[in-house]
Amino acid sequence: MSKIVAVIDIGSNSARMAIFRRTSRFGFSLIFETKSKVRISQGCYENDGILQDEPINRALNAIRDFAKLAKIHNAKKLFCVATSAVRDAPNRNQFISLIKKETKVQVKVIDGQKEAFFGAVACSNLLHKKDGITIDIGGGSTECAIIENGQIKELISLNIGTIRLKELFFDTKVDIEGAKEFIQKEIDKIPSSFMGENVFGIGGTIRALTKLIMKKEKYKIHFIHGYEFEALRYISYFKRIYNSELKKLKEFGVPPDREDNIRGGALIFSMLLEKFNTKLVITSGVGVREGIFLSDLLRNQKYSFPKGFNPSYRSILDRFIIEEKLQNNVKNNAVKLFEILSPRHKIDRKYLFHLQTAAGLTKIGNYLSFYSSNEHSAYFILNALSYGYSHADRAIITLLVKYSDKKIPQDDEILHISKIMPDILILQWLSFILSIAESLSFANDSFDFLFKNNILYITNKENAYIVKEKVESLHKPEPLGIEFI
Ligand code: LMR
Ligand code: MG
Repeated sequence: MSKIVAVIDIGSNSARMAIFRRTSRFGFSLIFETKSKVRISQGCYENDGILQDEPINRALNAIRDFAKLAKIHNAKKLFCVATSAVRDAPNRNQFISLIKKETKVQVKVIDGQKEAFFGAVACSNLLHKKDGITIDIGGGSTECAIIENGQIKELISLNIGTIRLKELFFDTKVDIEGAKEFIQKEIDKIPSSFMGENVFGIGGTIRALTKLIMKKEKYKIHFIHGYEFEALRYISYFKRIYNSELKKLKEFGVPPDREDNIRGGALIFSMLLEKFNTKLVITSGVGVREGIFLSDLLRNQKYSFPKGFNPSYRSILDRFIIEEKLQNNVKNNAVKLFEILSPRHKIDRKYLFHLQTAAGLTKIGNYLSFYSSNEHSAYFILNALSYGYSHADRAIITLLVKYSDKKIPQDDEILHISKIMPDILILQWLSFILSIAESLSFANDSFDFLFKNNILYITNKENAYIVKEKVESLHKPEPLGIEFI
């Protein structure tokens, strides 16, 4: 498969392009993303679905520029799909021919099932939870999928979308009841198997609503992907949004390009959350575009990564690790120390995952500069461990690496994410274990560990003078003896 792949999605509201670069067999990262307010569906809902000249022209211009940008980024493969508005348009073939003739880009119209599938492939592979229902609210349609244990089970596409609702129920005269009835008719088509505690929220509307919530909560981590919120707490907030007057939406913090269509989106979203009896919403920063890229990448893998594989972690190793052997030593020793000290620290084994991940990445900051390397590592980790980790996972791993040679302070930095963070003592223990493992990497030797009577015995062949000095100077979270023999 090509190293650099561009994917264009002509949604009914906006057109977007993402460009991905593979760093190894399955490791990859996003290298470019852009969007254009094409709104290809504009005016079509009151004109029998016929795509209108002006939006067609906007689409043409956007696709032409997207194709140029794909070329500039050296993309060797370009996928371009169109969804609801184009799919339902009587003049879709003219549209496709025009785009092909003018830009050489072949637009592929995907049906609702395929659209739901791509969103589900993205969520099942790139989010930290493996069970849930996807909701992808678009301009013309909304797609849902059931994901169970990372496997896609059922797909459905409904003809409800933000621009469709805007044109039918919000533009000339606001008719919330009419909109509700219209949505309900579609919701009634959903099989009863669509029930579940978790919802994975996809698409521009849900991202916009999530941003409002994050702002309201004064949430300090500025990543949309993987953000979690309780559905019940926010359904009433969404109600206030869809019942609001157009000009009052600013007060909620709605950005100008969402003002005319967010009310329909908030209405669809809250009705679906109620229908599914959802407890937790996990917002997804990935959707159809990532799903298309992954479907190509994983076509011989039953559309999932090998077990235990994380594409972000892999991609960081591919890009930033200088001394792989040294780093592996840190990782192995950290795991051994966690195990042997477990009667003392009594930390839940789930944190072994964070320790292991942190230990595998401590030295990546060297890529930028040896000085303040831990700071660089921490920044890289927080920003680049984007797929498959919860915000808490990312914050824990970042803190461990950042303070891998110092005591984790009990200050604002920890507090601002305190709601999702474990107890400070757990963090300090993990950090301490990581620090010992890091110190041991100062000797080119293998170490054995024994834990007895609250003393950690460290044995090795050579006289590890500097290692000893380093380990002895470490801050211990709780009393513990350490002896080198
Ligand atoms: C779509 O129609 O799927 C997208 O354009 C979604 C959006 O709201 O930008
Ligand atoms: Mg879409």
